[in-house]
Amino acid sequence: MRIDIITVLPELLESPLNCSILKRAQDKNLAEIVVHNLRDYSTDVRHRRVDDYPFGGSAGMVIQIEPVDRAISALKSERKYDEVIYTSPDGEMFNQPMANGLSMAENLIILCGHYKGIDYRIREHLITKEISIGDYVLTGGELAAAVICDSIIRLIPGAIGDEQSALSDSFQDNLLAPPVYTRPAEYKGWRVPDVLLSGHQRKIDEWLHEQSVERTKRLRPNLLDDDM
Ligand code: ADE
Repeated sequence: MRIDIITVLPELLESPLNCSILKRAQDKNLAEIVVHNLRDYSTDVRHRRVDDYPFGGSAGMVIQIEPVDRAISALKSERKYDEVIYTSPDGEMFNQPMANGLSMAENLIILCGHYKGIDYRIREHLITKEISIGDYVLTGGELAAAVICDSIIRLIPGAIGDEQSALSDSFQDNLLAPPVYTRPAEYKGWRVPDVLLSGHQRKIDEWLHEQSVERTKRLRPNLLDDDM
């Protein structure tokens, strides 16, 4: 999978995309993430400006259509993209099924939103999918792009050591994951549930499933009736 990210703040993406599992997936050539500075596509050679005052006189600057069109066209001339994503608080709410679907894409473009917005014609004519990572407003779409990359790249087979562990994540069956414990079996009198120490695998599996169902009912009951 290849993900091209277009942003005015490439520095913001450096560390989240180059650590841990995302770094390992790239080192293993399972994923390639390329960050592009939108200013490289500015028509203003001297100042590399990519924004301008909004028509109609509201406050703040708006990202112009031309640099974005130039950036996306340059990428599209190299390969075919499954989606051109725009990160914005008014996009479709991101969730696990969406991450699962995107993890099967070959090539993705993510255009990071900007706090005052982008010329709406970009959204109408160049973007194929708009994603929000939650009902709150970030200063830009970079952190949202990092969240999307993290959640989809970890699903690529081979990206995490134990493939089973992506399947047993919270949300994969519309259920939260069961609790996990490790040694010592007792600490300050706080004991690990006996069943986990019993060695009886069928009982352990039953208990883990019961815990998942109980935690979902108690903490996120909406997952049980949602068509996620
Ligand atoms: N940009 C600003 N806030 C955002 C959000 N909640 N989701 C995606 N992109 C954003």
